[in-house]
Amino acid sequence: MKKFTFEIFRYDPDKDSAPHYDTFEMEIDPETLLLTVLNKIKWEMDPTLAFRRSCREGVCGSDGMNVNGVNMLSCMTKAGDLGKSHIVIQPLPGMPVVRDLVVDVEDFMAKFIAVKPYIIRKSPTPDLEYYQSAADRKKLDGLYECILCGCCSSSCPSYWVDKDYLGPSAFMRAWRYLVDSRDEGADERLPVLNSRDGVWRCHTIYNCVKACPKELNPTDAIVSIRKMLMAKQY
Ligand code: SF4
Ligand code: SF4
Ligand code: FES
Repeated sequence: MKKFTFEIFRYDPDKDSAPHYDTFEMEIDPETLLLTVLNKIKWEMDPTLAFRRSCREGVCGSDGMNVNGVNMLSCMTKAGDLGKSHIVIQPLPGMPVVRDLVVDVEDFMAKFIAVKPYIIRKSPTPDLEYYQSAADRKKLDGLYECILCGCCSSSCPSYWVDKDYLGPSAFMRAWRYLVDSRDEGADERLPVLNSRDGVWRCHTIYNCVKACPKELNPTDAIVSIRKMLMAKQY
């Protein structure tokens, strides 16, 4: 067991004129997940603490937050892994705070929708199924695993300063469909990606890669989209 101090961002726009931090101390096994810590605080110390969570196993993407300055999922992070006994937990940066650790993801989701995140077909519907070979299916590895947690976009300086920039999460999703052998929607998606708010605005700083809790590589996706745009002479 080890003593930890958790300093947590608090802001209720209905009550608070400005954000503040509340501190909670507890003695826990360093293997304890941050999500368990937050649940303990909410259930045993302060029921007003607001944060999103659902699956508690790195699948739903709802509990992205900023911990000691780095974006991560609370359900995949053990308190002892952070190397410090003083842990500061804040909402994802660059997104408006709804309350405490809950951010408004409406704009993030609108950008996801803007890249048409679904298979687009122009050919006639086949009788049986949209066949995909094992080799073509393999091309989606490292892309389909994205859980839309927002940790990447929220760690991106371009995303912070330009409210219209689509951001690495949207680009990851766009590339996932652009490489899908069943998709025929490149001509609908590429103009969006080539726009002022598209891939050219990325400064290749790699913050998004460091932030991804699923160890995916949004910057690779961005570079691949740029190559596709150049090859197709957009
Ligand atoms: S590599 Fe591009 S998308 Fe990723 S954080 Fe940097 S500017 Fe943002
Ligand atoms: S690419 Fe990674 S960090 Fe970005 S939304 Fe997907 S899972 Fe989250
Ligand atoms: S609670 Fe679902 S990803 Fe963490």
